[in-house]
Amino acid sequence: MSKYITTPIYYVNGEAHIGHAYTTFIADTMTRYEKLKGEDTFLLTGTDEHGQKIEESALKSGKHTQEFANEISATFKNLWDEFEINYSKFIRTTDAEHKKGVQKAFEVMYAKGDIYKDFYEGHYCVSCETFFPETQLVDGEFCPDCGRTTSVVKEESYFFKLSKYEDKLLKHYADNPDFILPRSRANEVVNFVKSGLRDLSVTRTSFTWGVKMPESLNDDKHVMYVWLDALLNYITALGYGKDDADMNYWPASTQFVGKDILRFHAIYWPAFLMSLDLPLPKHIGAHGWWTRDGEKMSKSKGNVVSPKEVADAYGVENLRYFMLREVPFGQDGDFSQRAFIDRINSELSNDLGNLLNRIIGMSGKYSEFEIDSVDVQKYHTKELDAMNEALGNLDDFMQNMQFHRYLEELWKLFAIGNKAIEEHAPWTKMKEDKKDEALATVALVANILAKASIMLSPVMPRTTAIIADALNFTIDNDSYNELVIDKKLLKLFNIKKVPPLFPRVEEPLMEEAPKAMPDDKPNDEMKKEIVAKKEEDNLIEIGQFFETSLKIGVVVEAEEVPKSKKLLKLQVDLGEESLRQVVAGIKEFYSAESLIGTQVCVVANLKPAKLMGMMSEGMLLAAKDEDGLCLVRPEKSKKAGTPIG
Ligand code: MSP
Repeated sequence: MSKYITTPIYYVNGEAHIGHAYTTFIADTMTRYEKLKGEDTFLLTGTDEHGQKIEESALKSGKHTQEFANEISATFKNLWDEFEINYSKFIRTTDAEHKKGVQKAFEVMYAKGDIYKDFYEGHYCVSCETFFPETQLVDGEFCPDCGRTTSVVKEESYFFKLSKYEDKLLKHYADNPDFILPRSRANEVVNFVKSGLRDLSVTRTSFTWGVKMPESLNDDKHVMYVWLDALLNYITALGYGKDDADMNYWPASTQFVGKDILRFHAIYWPAFLMSLDLPLPKHIGAHGWWTRDGEKMSKSKGNVVSPKEVADAYGVENLRYFMLREVPFGQDGDFSQRAFIDRINSELSNDLGNLLNRIIGMSGKYSEFEIDSVDVQKYHTKELDAMNEALGNLDDFMQNMQFHRYLEELWKLFAIGNKAIEEHAPWTKMKEDKKDEALATVALVANILAKASIMLSPVMPRTTAIIADALNFTIDNDSYNELVIDKKLLKLFNIKKVPPLFPRVEEPLMEEAPKAMPDDKPNDEMKKEIVAKKEEDNLIEIGQFFETSLKIGVVVEAEEVPKSKKLLKLQVDLGEESLRQVVAGIKEFYSAESLIGTQVCVVANLKPAKLMGMMSEGMLLAAKDEDGLCLVRPEKSKKAGTPIG
């Protein structure tokens, strides 16, 4: 069966940053992994070029919109080419074939009765290209997602009957628990759908930079909503809309997205596909966001990490390794040069690089670079078993997108190799005239390096090709089958010398990011308001308020604390690597069961305290009066970990 893997298509209003590189690295790694296993795999990436945001950016730059889009799109494509991203197609939403495919999809949905014409009046955020109901706006004016000013727009619009698909979507999530990965992210989607879906406005009349309506509708006032246009790229890239489209690769096996665009991919996209009578993708993999030195990246702060700059300084493969190893998929991650350098020096240079150098050195000294696996079984069954066990665990980690666990497991192989050298000390064996034993250890390690290189190749293709060359083999599906699946050992060969692959890094190779202002968090409007009230007595500074970290939490587990009248023990998802245990005095007002899957507001930076012998790592916000207690909850479902303030 073939595989189809996609990245989001990137907006062309700015050049690639490290977040874009991360999704692309992940998708490329998975593609290379599938290919290594012999799967026919198609990787799609590209650029998202329509919409008001792009039109406005082009205007600011003084360029024609298409010319502007061409230039930025090319910067993405060139960067992925320079990074040797193994994409099968780079799609642009301004491609004629894509536009035709979008029009075709619109016609199909319209003919089915899933699209109808009406009026839309709402608050529109240009930056997010999204309408928001007034109730969701911050201070009645600002976008709840990005904090920018929204504007009131009333326009005629075509609507997609999203509401019609509510039950079908819920059923799909229930029947396919791995549709959204990591699974911990599914709750927020399910809750959003359960809270009721409104029909979606899918055309605009307020600007013109978009896919035109299909001719059959004879309504050229409208252009397509950018998210309808953009999401459809995943099928137009395979020829959807063309008479002879084979669409062989559809449905996608994995679609990677950042957590901020999960809603579009896990709700709108499947609903569009259902409307088109097409099967749904197998998995939507949502990753977290990258910060720099603990700060959110933004152009205005000047702290955006440019993947090109990092790759030029540290090497693109080191960057790939770092990003995949550093962060559990789905969690937010932090880019700091310190952490990056530590991993280069300890894991790449010490664990892997030195091991290779030792083998080259010892084989040169003891056997004129000749490696023969003939005695490995005899002296090293323990190591071979441990190695095969670790190799056998890898596939599950990759399939579950646990890239950091995959690499961690792979690094066990180098530990086995390094330990075997220490324990068996080939130099002593040589002195004791036990040459066959010494050479068996050298050959064991050469085999470890060979097998590990094959499995590391999806993450570090260039580097592992050099290691394979030194060990006189080529990494491909044949060597994968022979050395990894069939567990065979390398045949007799001569090792080649290679220069050190991972020179140690002694100090940061790039300039450090400018430090952000300490009070960067609240938006400008909030700050003004606070300043205006500053003189009044008893008011606190905004900074004092922000010392309390309030976050949206999702209750994942809840149970009664035995022998306690008041306490419930909850496991709450705050969007962190692990769940938080919160012990709350709410048993008289809520049953444990009724809380599971619901959203709460959590004080997230309280010092942990013990209640009845149990650690509590947070506090829930609640209001209590003579009628009892009620929890404070967000009015609309929000992502776990969303800051409140
Ligand atoms: N054009 C839309 C996607 C349409 S897909 C049919 C879009 N583009 S984007 O350029 O703004 O973002 C592309 C991807 O980059 C998203 O998955 C987003 O989550 C990701 N990232 C943007 N900033 C990021 C970080 N700081 N860290 C990690 N990924 C981030 O959205």
